[in-house]
Amino acid sequence: MAAIYMDANATTPVLPEVVEAMRPYWAESFGNASSVHQRGQQARAAVDHAREAVATLLNCRPAEIVFTSGGTESDNLALFGLLSPGDHLITTAIEHHAVLHAAEALAQRGVELTFLKPSAAGVIDPEAVRASLRPNTKLVSVMLANNETGVVQPVREIAKIAHGSGALVHTDAVQAGGKLPLDVTALGCDLLSLSGHKMHAPQGVGVLYVSRKVKLNPLFFGGLHERGRRPGTENVAGIVGLGRAAELARTWLNAEASPSTSTQPENPAALAALRDRLEQGILARLPDAGVNGAGAPRVANTTNLYFEGIDAEALIIALDLQGLEISAGSACQSGATEPSHVLVAMGLPEERARGSVRLSLSRMNSQSEVGVAIELVAAAVSRLRAIAGAAAR
Ligand SMILES: Cc1ncc(COP(=O)(O)O)c(C=O)c1O
Repeated sequence: MAAIYMDANATTPVLPEVVEAMRPYWAESFGNASSVHQRGQQARAAVDHAREAVATLLNCRPAEIVFTSGGTESDNLALFGLLSPGDHLITTAIEHHAVLHAAEALAQRGVELTFLKPSAAGVIDPEAVRASLRPNTKLVSVMLANNETGVVQPVREIAKIAHGSGALVHTDAVQAGGKLPLDVTALGCDLLSLSGHKMHAPQGVGVLYVSRKVKLNPLFFGGLHERGRRPGTENVAGIVGLGRAAELARTWLNAEASPSTSTQPENPAALAALRDRLEQGILARLPDAGVNGAGAPRVANTTNLYFEGIDAEALIIALDLQGLEISAGSACQSGATEPSHVLVAMGLPEERARGSVRLSLSRMNSQSEVGVAIELVAAAVSRLRAIAGAAAR
């Protein structure tokens, strides 16, 4: 039996419709989008179509979309493309390492840096942004949805405050792509990062939205692709996949509930109900357990659970052997013994952070998978606690 996959925040399965859309661009339509001949122009038209689809999802102009190699590059392009020595950057302690480590590298080059801490529920207070603004604050970068807890940040309020003092706003929306409506005008952000593989497109393709009012310096130098903001021959198949995933995300986000017999969630409300069933089912079966980020607004697919007396790595391995794939913190941290920087920044004791796991669903998960997962998690936690109890006696 295939393993049940509940690690969508690490990466999502590529939708069959996306694979189908990409296929010709690895085969007969393999052209370089810069070539003048017809095959090249077919590739160009496909990239343009994908650009329009992503722009529609974000409610921006196609010319404001820059295709990149993924979320990490988009975040780096936003920060390094805007900040120079002497500028001030405000960001948060709960960002993905793509922002955190970029910010630290910029600090070594003379950029002033403020890291804001979240509340115990994992939320950044917009007033903390206001209190940190300086005359030289050039950029405020706050993620839209956290990859570990799913907690949604008040980006719209933060943007209003930042703009009031002339700072620009970037949001890492990688974990919000395909989960929340992403209207850049409503959000009020000037730059926004997306990653294909978190929204059912392939790995290795992403987007940076850059408002036409923003002047961004490129990170790389070469041809004039992406209006000089990101040189290099386009990843045509990947871009086509991301464009198709954007169209499908838009449809799914706006889908009405139907009396269909589908056991897979048809829209975000149904996905949230599935996640809540998973969360409540596990918590009902286990004492000394809870939700990290409970009480804060969260994206529909994510739950971050702690189990007292449990080592998250041991639980993940035990569940993997039973056919359930989940993770602790972000994927790039797995294997590391450090507790999650997000949970630690929320003020959780280190032991609780070490006993926390993330289950992240997608629209591909079913009711029956959730039923199986509840029983597997409850049994594995009970077994590990019994072993630890026996060892302690
Ligand atoms: C919030 C966030 N930002 C950025 C990234 C990096 O994206 P990519 O894997 O496309 O480089 C991730 C990936 O986990 C993420 O969760």
